[in-house]
Amino acid sequence: MIDYILVLDFGGQYAHLIVRRVRELGVYSELLSVDGTQLEVLKEAIRGARGVILSGGPSSVWEGKHDEIARIIIEEGKPALGICYGHQLLARVLGGVVDKARKPEFGPTIVSIKARDDPLFNGIIETIVVWMSHNDAVLEPPPGASILAVSQGSPVAAFKYGNIYGVQWHPEVVHTMFGLKLIDNWLKIVGVERSWKPEDMVGKLVDSIREAVGDGLAIAAVSGGVDSTTAALLAKRALGDRLIPVVIDHGLHPAGEPWGSVELLRKVGLDVKVVKADDRFFEALKGVVDPEEKRRVFGRVYAEVLEEVAEQHGAEYLVQGTIYPDVIESGGRPGSSIIKTHHNVAGLPRGFKLKLVEPLKWFYKDEVRRIASRIGVPKEIIRRQPIPGPALAVRIEGEVTREKVEVVRKADAIVREEIEAEGLQDRLWQYFAVLTASKATGVKGDRRAYGYVVAVRAVISVDAMTASIARLKWELLERIASRIVSEVPGVVRVVYDITSKPPATIEWE
Ligand code: XMP
Repeated sequence: MIDYILVLDFGGQYAHLIVRRVRELGVYSELLSVDGTQLEVLKEAIRGARGVILSGGPSSVWEGKHDEIARIIIEEGKPALGICYGHQLLARVLGGVVDKARKPEFGPTIVSIKARDDPLFNGIIETIVVWMSHNDAVLEPPPGASILAVSQGSPVAAFKYGNIYGVQWHPEVVHTMFGLKLIDNWLKIVGVERSWKPEDMVGKLVDSIREAVGDGLAIAAVSGGVDSTTAALLAKRALGDRLIPVVIDHGLHPAGEPWGSVELLRKVGLDVKVVKADDRFFEALKGVVDPEEKRRVFGRVYAEVLEEVAEQHGAEYLVQGTIYPDVIESGGRPGSSIIKTHHNVAGLPRGFKLKLVEPLKWFYKDEVRRIASRIGVPKEIIRRQPIPGPALAVRIEGEVTREKVEVVRKADAIVREEIEAEGLQDRLWQYFAVLTASKATGVKGDRRAYGYVVAVRAVISVDAMTASIARLKWELLERIASRIVSEVPGVVRVVYDITSKPPATIEWE
């Protein structure tokens, strides 16, 4: 196992960002949810880690819920950094006083660093604006600890006790000045090597697939996106002819797909079989309106088709391109095997018969792209924007019909063409059209027309965990709007989505 920093998730909304930052700084890191994980698993993960970061969380430390965890970290002598709730938890278990803050602090807050000679604050100025979000505060430090920083609402905004640090603010959030620097300093204090490069993991990933599948046969569900293609190519290296790559034609692909991808995949040695199943998907999606239900129905039919294909070939494994953000959402664990017999990622139903092989499940998208590049995945695929598993089904509000798929597909093709004609494709994370459930009035050919409203979405992001809107030029947006209204029958209006993530998500459903 490589050296890693364990981030214990106490339910804080920014916990995953801590992992992100540590990896950006060249150290492998994993998130482990404290609630719902067995104590033994937690202990093992703590023991194996070079250092532990305790995240924020919604509880109050005097509930005593997590004292045991803090004690284990202290007894193991692990270097630790507590953030927000984690800071309060460590302070309390070490004998400090935590209570309601005299002044709760939310959002940008001024902090005074009192111990600028401490290595945690190396290169950080004395007065900084940081992101806070807390009702409780450490009012008195643990006996023997030193106070490193203060703010109006936090008499102990940061403390140090041996190799344990706590900070009340969130260094992982971009709004915090010197946030990344503080984490960088802490990693230096821990002394962990900065050797994490996702692309160096190729050999290990291939070995782990070989080990997981043994002499068996595996199918790989490939969509032509970077995740599934990379997973399948790794599996191809591991298994050779014992890998059967398939593309399922569910009838909900964007324009030109899946055949465009099939050609590219064959060029890189993935001899994919195309399984036509569009009628089944449309039949099952009839009358389904709720977005989550759509995902479940899509997942169920997808699973059935895969099980049938596997049965025809006598395969018992399925290679999937699940990536870390999906795992975080479904509560991943470090150290667990790369095979799960059932899971809730991508909507596969419980009781799914195939054993899952998910070689990319510890990587962020940008890391997957680096691995992809190392193993020769074509640039067109690496740069391709993500398409959600249920594809256009979740870009049509309301019931999915063949007619609506045609509408959104045509509108989407225009968005792509125009954005790519401007050469913006590499600067944007995603750009696409959504067929909304709204209808509006327009005038077409001197007649009143009542028809669809299409929304255009374009965002900038590093890993889809957060996203900001793309400030496209008006001229470009106008061109897109006028082409969609004149070229796509049934559409009378086009709107541009100007909401960032959070609070919105990237997809509409
Ligand atoms: P959201 O909409 O949650 O999307 O901000 C984040 C990223 O994930 C993609 N996405 C999906 N991918 N199955 C997938 O494989 C899905 O159900 C799904 N929903 C969203 C989305 O396109 C964006 O890149």
